[in-house]
Amino acid sequence: MVHEHDVIIVGAGLAGLRVAIELVKDFDVAILTKVHPLRSHSVAAQGGINAAMGENDSWETHAFDTVKGADYLADQDAVEILTREAPITVIENERWGTAFSRKEDGTIAQRPFGGAGFPRTCYTADRTGHNLLHTTFEQAMRLGVKIYEEYFVTSLVRNESHVVGLTAMEISSGEVLGFAAKAVVIATGGFGRVYARSTNALINTGDGCAISLRAGVPLKDMEFIQFHPTTLFGSSILMSEGVRGEGGYLINTEGTRFMNTYAPEKMELAPRDIVARAISTEILEGRGFENEYVHLDLTHLGKERILERLPGIREISMHFAGVDPIDEPIPVQPGQHYSMGGIDCDKHGATSLDGLYAVGEASCMSVHGANRLGGNSLLETLVFGRVVGATVGEYLKSAKSESHDIIDEEVFKTRERLQEILFRESGESPADIRKELTEIMDAKVGVFRRPEEIEEALKVIREQRKRFESVALGGSDKKFNYSLIRTLELENLIDLAEAIALGALMRQESRGAHWRLDFPKRDDERFLKHTLVIMSDHVMRIEYKDVNLGQFEVKERTY
Ligand code: FUM
Repeated sequence: MVHEHDVIIVGAGLAGLRVAIELVKDFDVAILTKVHPLRSHSVAAQGGINAAMGENDSWETHAFDTVKGADYLADQDAVEILTREAPITVIENERWGTAFSRKEDGTIAQRPFGGAGFPRTCYTADRTGHNLLHTTFEQAMRLGVKIYEEYFVTSLVRNESHVVGLTAMEISSGEVLGFAAKAVVIATGGFGRVYARSTNALINTGDGCAISLRAGVPLKDMEFIQFHPTTLFGSSILMSEGVRGEGGYLINTEGTRFMNTYAPEKMELAPRDIVARAISTEILEGRGFENEYVHLDLTHLGKERILERLPGIREISMHFAGVDPIDEPIPVQPGQHYSMGGIDCDKHGATSLDGLYAVGEASCMSVHGANRLGGNSLLETLVFGRVVGATVGEYLKSAKSESHDIIDEEVFKTRERLQEILFRESGESPADIRKELTEIMDAKVGVFRRPEEIEEALKVIREQRKRFESVALGGSDKKFNYSLIRTLELENLIDLAEAIALGALMRQESRGAHWRLDFPKRDDERFLKHTLVIMSDHVMRIEYKDVNLGQFEVKERTY
């Protein structure tokens, strides 16, 4: 049996829910998600959502900060939409019920964030994503959005020219089912779990990006991986930029606020790529504690402010590092946090495949270019959730249903493939491959990159793809088989790791979050362009595509 809807959205985080809200009044919409919507990774966003709402702030200043933060690789037409629509987006969510933190006069409070010319990050203490996600989910429920909960997407189904649906496994039964739709929206979030040290939830395995790549849709700018400067030493849990926004200091073993050397003007509130490199340099040059971390010190902020503005940070530090930040500094180090790259699409989410759209972190529009500013990610999910919803609505007015035959065929093939994996009696351990993959990405395709190390990583990744063909799980039960889910995720991670490493090898310059030790300068002449990774018959190739420049001239970037 094939389930049929006008549009299927894969992923139930903020972006996916917002697309559904836009479409549900006029179309038959369904969301398909591998976890309950409130367990989507949007829930983990801490620090806030940017909007130029301050007295002297403007969308143009927000746009400029975003483009400069992006090291000029952002598409400026998309950035304009992001920043112009930011204030109404925040207000919409406030009206829906998000309990934003307030100033004395009752207006929405805004804190300073990295690379921003104004305090423009609206927040709900340090649990902003949690609040926004609950509010948005409530709206989706109120409007009656249909949700296929705990379904794992296994492939996109397309014909010569357009998408016709997808296949997915119902996790509770292990059954593979077909889904027909005139349009499919990928909103599966990022792929941080390509790295071992990541702030990302374990679910962030880029499933939507990987199935799109395999369906012939290019991925864009995959080499631009954001390493958040401050993740908790030992567990890699996010220690929000909001901590530095509230006045936290970064300190090395010599007791120095070392950001003075790297970004004397912005100090701890320079963009993330710069702060992450600064911390890594301090550690590499021997000024890190235990050669592993630096201190994030907020003891001078006082108990009252920490309890009011950063309660989650305090709790996490106490539970996971045994440190109460009211009295002691927090041990932090950089860790993977965000994927600037994703599915290549235009500023309305349209991909090169008719009927396939992408939104949120899974997409690359590209509003973040080579480095995203903190607070622009929650914003992107909601602004472009609305924009992509409206675009899909227009598309659906003239789109037609297709025959289900190719979906049936794909369901059959997928079932056979999963059976083969489930009943293989011995072979490679998926857990071993995943450990090796994520550790090599940390070690060889991290904050600082060398070509010979990237090549080493690529060699291992390609060997892993071969090893994957003989993975065995040691159990064939189909119901709630999370070994099988982790294995299918691993297949996705292998493809995405290769795309990241290949993009990183070919980009012979340093820009934003991509830092090549052999090419330590930005090279606009050769590389002011987007990287496209295209896959056919399991072989990847690279092409390049122009950046949409605009009102902001490309300049040197200093902070
Ligand atoms: O540091 C943070 O709170 C993260 C925010 C973001 O990634 O936008």
